[in-house]
Amino acid sequence: MNLLKGKNGIIFGALNDMSIAWKTAEQAHAQGAGLVLTNAPVAMRMGAIQELAAACDNAPVIPADATSTEDLEALFQGAMDHFGGKIDFVLHSIGMSPNVRKGRHYTDLKYPWLQQTLDVSAISLHKTLQTAMKLDALSEWGSVVALTYIAAQRTFPDYNDMADAKSLLESITRSFGYHYGVANKVRVNSISQSPTMTTAGSGVKGFDEFMAYSESMSPLGNATGEACAEYCVAMFSDLTRYVTMQNLFHDGGFSNTGVSTEVISKFVKD
Ligand SMILES: NC(=O)c1ccc[n+]([C@@H]2O[C@H](COP(=O)([O-])OP(=O)(O)OC[C@H]3O[C@@H](n4cnc5c(N)ncnc54)[C@H](O)[C@@H]3O)[C@@H](O)[C@H]2O)c1
Repeated sequence: MNLLKGKNGIIFGALNDMSIAWKTAEQAHAQGAGLVLTNAPVAMRMGAIQELAAACDNAPVIPADATSTEDLEALFQGAMDHFGGKIDFVLHSIGMSPNVRKGRHYTDLKYPWLQQTLDVSAISLHKTLQTAMKLDALSEWGSVVALTYIAAQRTFPDYNDMADAKSLLESITRSFGYHYGVANKVRVNSISQSPTMTTAGSGVKGFDEFMAYSESMSPLGNATGEACAEYCVAMFSDLTRYVTMQNLFHDGGFSNTGVSTEVISKFVKD
């Protein structure tokens, strides 16, 4: 469909071929976009990002820790040099909680780790937007998408401090979306995705059971990573130009379902 023909974008967070960012890069490339790929320097060593870059017309890979404004400046400058102009879209696909990784209970958080969770998973979006704005790096009608989860609105006990990070992420989406819209007609949205089997996703305790629960609570079933990538592409395209400051549920109907007959049937007595 060439939905992104003539557009250039930066994709954060492609760790391996399960990553939502990886699938989004593939889809954006297939829709005609030019790409720069980025991830934390430490992730470069574990990941296979060069393989993805090769499949996307040798897209440059510029390492950046998304908590470092110096790294972000070098990233945006490097991307503008590569494209020979401004950037039309950005995918923020970043999440990490040391408390989740190390199995700390929500009622027993280690606070320096909480700070890290918030910095990596939420404040990095503010830093990305602020850096882009200072460098005047984004085109008018440019589109920034961040990935989030419904634990920002409703409690999912094992999502731990990531729930707090996602609440902050969604708030930054609205607040910066206002200012960037007024200043430069740039739009900022978050997509609230179904549970998806990725490296970050599977770090959450009881993830397999949780995915099965979510599947049975979603009239359309869980949205896949590939489908999420397609939604991201739609949000980067000119077909969604007046959508901004929104948290968009991409979850097969989960968020508006109180209970499903499938779930209630498990409670029927003989
Ligand atoms: N998998 C799910 O169930 C699910 C559901 C809803 C939302 N999300 C969100 O989707 C996004 C992508 O996660 P994913 O599921 O594809 O997992 P993933 O593990 O493939 O991606 C997470 C990425 O964050 C990157 N990252 C961590 N610290 C960073 C830093 N300091 N600087 C730059 N990058 C850093 C990692 O290197 C990795 O590439 C995350 O925001 C996640 O919370 C995931």
